[in-house]
This record gives sequence, structure tokens and C-alpha cells, in this order.
Amino acid sequence: RPLETESGESSLEGFDHYMLKEIYEQPEALRNAMRGRLDDENATAVFGGLNLTPQQLRTVERIILTGCGTSWHSALVGEYLIEDLARIPVNVEYASELRYRNPPIENNTLVFGITQSGETADTLAALRETKRKGHRALAVCNVVGSSIAQAADGGVYLHAGPEIGVASTKAFTSQCCVLAMLALYFGRLRHLSFESGKSIIEDLRQLPNAVQQALTCNEQVRDVAKKYQNASTVLYLGRQYNFPTALEGALKLKEISYIHAEGYPAAEMKHGPIALVDDETPSVFIIPRGTTYDKVMSNMEEVKARGGPVIALASEDDPQVQAVADDVIAVPQVAEFLQPIVNVVPLQLLSYHIALLRGCDVDKPRNLAKSVTVE
Ligand code: AGP
Repeated sequence: RPLETESGESSLEGFDHYMLKEIYEQPEALRNAMRGRLDDENATAVFGGLNLTPQQLRTVERIILTGCGTSWHSALVGEYLIEDLARIPVNVEYASELRYRNPPIENNTLVFGITQSGETADTLAALRETKRKGHRALAVCNVVGSSIAQAADGGVYLHAGPEIGVASTKAFTSQCCVLAMLALYFGRLRHLSFESGKSIIEDLRQLPNAVQQALTCNEQVRDVAKKYQNASTVLYLGRQYNFPTALEGALKLKEISYIHAEGYPAAEMKHGPIALVDDETPSVFIIPRGTTYDKVMSNMEEVKARGGPVIALASEDDPQVQAVADDVIAVPQVAEFLQPIVNVVPLQLLSYHIALLRGCDVDKPRNLAKSVTVE
């Protein structure tokens, strides 16, 4: 049964599934997320709805990012972004835990609920609970006028357009993009120089084209999917900014193809998960050029030495990776802090093709709802 939009019209626009359509919409979704928000004159980002003055935001000493599922993964990317670019300590909390955990939250803490639908019960409850304790709670949200958008003191809309496939794709990349702009904004309120702000804006502007280029791997990813469609466990490994990308790749595979998958920081392998490696358990390494390249390379060699098949997402023309990995998917090189947005694209496509090959209903996977409005 074809899925329909709220207006009752099917809008697949030639795509076989909403998930695939939404994967392909990502360059445009990113343009929409950035539209009107990059301020060249002041080398910063601007947001209309934070409802807090720069003076109030200047006093923020800690940020808590909370959400569920994929939105929790973008919160993890946000932790790296805000700590890196703005040097503000960040905690990431599962909304389902935060709502009952009762952690001591200091004054001058700002809480962001990250959500596509704006209807996730745990995220809504976590925001209400933090507001009840007198903290400011903002939202990074896609659906305009949703419950979380209304409950928050202010926030930022993604403008990604409707996301209908149960597996979140364009919301993740748009959330990461908005969090990067928030990190730029908070950074420019503090130590980040005009020149650094300018170069971050340039990096952000290149992003939609880089994602467009990443989409050209589709055919190759389909061939890789054919090879590994019968795996019963897949490991996803990456470091720093690409650790949350690994978690997101694993979640995508689990939810739509029903294959067991785990994401780890690559260095954690040796503390247990490497025991899972055998010749039938593929590992997906996210290994673009960057600060942890050599470290991830040696983790990849360890897996290979134990007979594990290796799929690598790597920068173009990387003979070192090609010499070790069984399959190499080239991803365009972007600034390290934006890599999750580009690197997640082949992972979304990989899960899509594997699910399709296994005859799964990619847009409506079993046991899952698009938004989880109950506990
Ligand atoms: C993502 O692919 C999942 N379907 C799910 O984890 C989702 O991200 C989670 O339920 C949170 O939803 P939200 O962003 O609408 O709050």
C-alpha cells in the first residue's frame, strides 16, 4: 500500500520509496536549513526564534542536548560541534532517561530537545521536566507547530519538509547542520574569531554539493549490498565526529533490514566487540582523512587480520585504504566537523538496498511507528 501525505496525495515523485526520495532530498533540505541563517557580515549564524538575547546566551555555561533514536545521534554530533567550535561543555542525554533521572542541573544551563516530529513523548516530557525546574528549554524541530515546538521556550526549525519514511534520513543531516550553525553562533559569542567564523560559513556553503556528490555512490552501494545482504551481524566503526555516524549507520540497518548491527568508537573494538569478528561478519569502517585516520587504519587492519570482511567509507584516491578493505566507497572530503552529514549518506543507501534485497518494507518497518507518542 503506497504511503500518503497528510493531504491524501501520494508524492513519491518517481521514487520507489519515501526513504529513497528523502535521502535524495538532502542537498535541498540542507539549503533550506541554512537559508537566511548565514550572516557573512558578522561571520556568524542568525536565528529568529531562540527568544533569548545574545547577552542571555553569553551567560550559558552548559548545554544539555536530549532526544531519542536518530535525534539522539545528532545530539551526539552536536556535542562534538558545540564543544569544538564554542568550547561550551555539553551533555547528551536520552530523553527517556533524562525525564526520570533528576540530574543536578546548574544555573545557566540551556536544554535543547532534538526531534524531527516534535511529538516524541519522552522528549516532550524531558523538556517539560527541565522547564518545571526553571531551566530554559529550546527545540531543534522539523514539524512546525508540533507539541514540542509549542512547549519549548524557543528554538530552530529544520525546514526539511515532511519526512514520511519511518527511517529518519534528511532530518538527521538537517539536525546536524542546524547544530553546526548553533555551534558557530555560540562560538562567535565567545572566542571564535571573525576569520574562523568566515571559514566555517564557507565550509557550510559547500555542504549541499558535497552531499549531492555523495549520492553518486548509489549504484556502487547497491552492489556492496548484494554481497552482504545475508549477513547476520554488521559492525559500524568510526571515531570522533564519525562515532555517532557509526551508531546511525547501525540503527538504519537494524530498523529496516532486521539485521543485527552495532556501532562503536573504532578503538573500543579491542575491549570486546572484536570477538564477534569472523569471515561472515562484515565491518563498516568510516575512515576519511582526518585527525584519527591512522588510528582507525590500524583498527581496520586488526579486523582484516582476523578474517573479517571490511567495507570502508574513505576519501577519494586513498590507496592505503584500498589495500586493506574489500570494498571502498569514496566520500567527498569536507571539513571534519561536517563529515557526519556526508558520510551518513552511503550508510543510509546501504541499509536501503539491503532491506530491499531482503524483501523488507523499507518505509514501514515492522514494530515501528514514525513518531513514538507513548512511553
Ligand atoms: C529513526 O530512524 C527512528 N525511526 C527513530 O529512532 C526516531 O529518530 C526517534 O523515534 C525520534 O523521533 P523524533 O526525531 O521525531 O523525536
